[in-house]
Amino acid sequence: MSARRLVLAALSASAFVLPSALALAVKAVPPTSFVLVGDSTTANGGGWGNGFCGSTITGNIASLAPGTLCINTARNGTTTGTFVAEGFWDASVAAIKGEVAKGRRTYVTIQFGHNDQKIAPPESMGANLTAMVKQVRALGAEPVLVTSLTRRSFRSNGTVADTLGPWADEMILIAQQQSTHVLDLHVASIKYVEAIGPDAAHRLNRLPEDNTHLNVNGTTVFGRMVADFISASFPGQLPVIPNPTLTFNISHGIASF
Ligand SMILES: *[C@@H]1O[C@H](CO)[C@@H](O)[C@H](O)[C@H]1NC(C)=O
Ligand SMILES: *[C@@H]1O[C@H](CO)[C@@H](O)[C@H](O)[C@H]1NC(C)=O
Ligand SMILES: *[C@@H]1O[C@H](CO)[C@@H](O)[C@H](O)[C@H]1NC(C)=O
Ligand SMILES: *[C@@H]1O[C@H](CO)[C@@H](O)[C@H](O)[C@H]1NC(C)=O
Ligand SMILES: *[C@@H]1O[C@H](CO)[C@@H](O)[C@H](O)[C@H]1NC(C)=O
Repeated sequence: MSARRLVLAALSASAFVLPSALALAVKAVPPTSFVLVGDSTTANGGGWGNGFCGSTITGNIASLAPGTLCINTARNGTTTGTFVAEGFWDASVAAIKGEVAKGRRTYVTIQFGHNDQKIAPPESMGANLTAMVKQVRALGAEPVLVTSLTRRSFRSNGTVADTLGPWADEMILIAQQQSTHVLDLHVASIKYVEAIGPDAAHRLNRLPEDNTHLNVNGTTVFGRMVADFISASFPGQLPVIPNPTLTFNISHGIASF
C-alpha cells in the first residue's frame, strides 16, 4: 500500500483525524495549474486557449474547475525560435516557476508549427521543442506537447488541404523521444472539420476569410477538444469540468454552432 493510500485508509477508518495526517493527505493531492505556450492558435484572442482557460477578451467560460489557475502565455506570430528570442519564453518560465513554488502540479502545454513551417524544416522546431521540454521538467512541471490545430481550408472534394502534417509528425516524434504526453489536436481537428463540412467549419472562423483563427464558438469547441484529450491523458487527475453534450457533438462529428 502506497503512503498516500495508507493515509486515505487511515482517514476513512477514523473520525478523529490527526492534523499531521490531514496535512499529508492534502499534500498528496496538490492543486493543479496550467500554463499554455504556443502561437496565435493557442493565444488569447483567436486560439483554443480561451475555451480551455476561459477568457474575458472573448467571453469564453473555462473548461476547468473554478479557481484553477490557467495562464495563457501563447503569442501571436511566434515560432519556437522567436518565442524564445523575443522574451515570451522567459514569461512562461516565470509563470511556471511561480506555480511550482506555490506547490501546485503544473502542466505546460506546448503547441507550435503554424509559423515554424514558414521559416524552417520540421527538425528545427523539433530541436527547439526538445530544449523547452527539458527546461519545463527542470522547473518541476509536466510538459504536454500538442500538435497544430488544423486550418479550415478545404479542397473541392471536402477534405482539408493540410500543410501542417510534417510539423505535427515532428511534435509526436519529440514526444516519443522525450517520453512526454502528446495530444494529437492536428488529426482530431481535421477529422472534426471534415465531418461538419466547410460551412459549419467556417462559422468557427474569427473573420469570414480567416481559416486559421477562431471566434468565441471556435475556441469553445477546440478548447473542449484539448480539455477532453488532456483529461484522458491523466485520468482522474485533472480539474477538467465535463461537458457531455459538447463532447458528444465533437466525438460524433456534429456541428454545435
Ligand atoms: C492575436 O491574434 C488574434 C487573432 O487574429 C487577435 O484576435 C488578437 O487581437 C491578437 N492579439 C494580439 C495581442 O495582437
Ligand atoms: C529554433 O531556434 C533557433 C535558435 O536557437 C533559431 O535559429 C531557429 O530559427 C528556431 N527554429 C524555428 C522553427 O523557429
Ligand atoms: C480529395 O482530393 C485530394 C487531392 O486531390 C486527394 O488526395 C484525396 O484522396 C481526395 N479524397 C477524397 C476522399 O476524394
Ligand atoms: C450539440 O449540437 C446540437 C446540434 O447542432 C446543438 O443544438 C447543441 O447546442 C450542441 N450542444 C452543445 C453543448 O454545443
Ligand atoms: C456563436 O453561436 C451562437 C449560437 O449558434 C450564435 O448566436 C453566435 O452568433 C455565434 N457567434 C459567432 C461569433 O459566430
